[in-house]
Amino acid sequence: MKKIIIANWKMKLPYADSLKLARSCRRLEAVICPDHLSLAAVAGAIKGGRVRLGAQDCAPEERAALTGEVSPADLRKLGVRHVILGHSERRQQLHENSIIINRKIQAALAAGLIPVLCVGEKAEVKRAGITAEYIGDELRRALKGIKIASPHDLLIAYEPIWAISTVRKAKPLAPAAAAQMHAFIRREAKKILSREVRILYGGSVRSENAPAFLAEKEIDGLLVGAASLDYSEFKAICS
Ligand code: PGA
Repeated sequence: MKKIIIANWKMKLPYADSLKLARSCRRLEAVICPDHLSLAAVAGAIKGGRVRLGAQDCAPEERAALTGEVSPADLRKLGVRHVILGHSERRQQLHENSIIINRKIQAALAAGLIPVLCVGEKAEVKRAGITAEYIGDELRRALKGIKIASPHDLLIAYEPIWAISTVRKAKPLAPAAAAQMHAFIRREAKKILSREVRILYGGSVRSENAPAFLAEKEIDGLLVGAASLDYSEFKAICS
């Protein structure tokens, strides 16, 4: 099956730069996730191209009195297909918990979006040797009561927090070790969802190490942060 490459631009680019990068990415077989503000303009800029549109978050409701939030239904209408949910930066810096992430997954699915649920352990968890228990718990909480009709309705991204490029002293996980965690996540997700979903890897992926990750059978694709902001670097990852 084809590998899935998703670019997470985070809040790194000014509006004009998002548009410029989106135009460059038009022909790539990938999903780009700009910030909410530039989504509409990016949707226009990539129309007719090959690249698909994703969002970095969505509201836990379709329509509600929720100041500052963006409706998953409106994202879908704009042409958004994938939505990153539960990213560790939101969990850690904005205190987003599993209850809200679970509600966002439900709302995204109801709107016809494909949630990309992020899970990953902190360095302390890894040091304590309890990564599997921690990730299993994150999966059970976020996916509680979630029903999907097809295995393609939801993706999981495994992103060990200590491997994300913006974290101090970050280093990528070895592809073979990532594949081992993916096998575990696949089994756990199957127990919860009764379906086998696809699992992406994220954390300091660059053009030099991307082929080694993608060569692993257990790794169905990549969620790319910093390296997706540089067009030639991201193009190299996609090809
Ligand atoms: P990184 O970010 O590729 O810069 O490590 C990945 C992510 O946070 O999604």
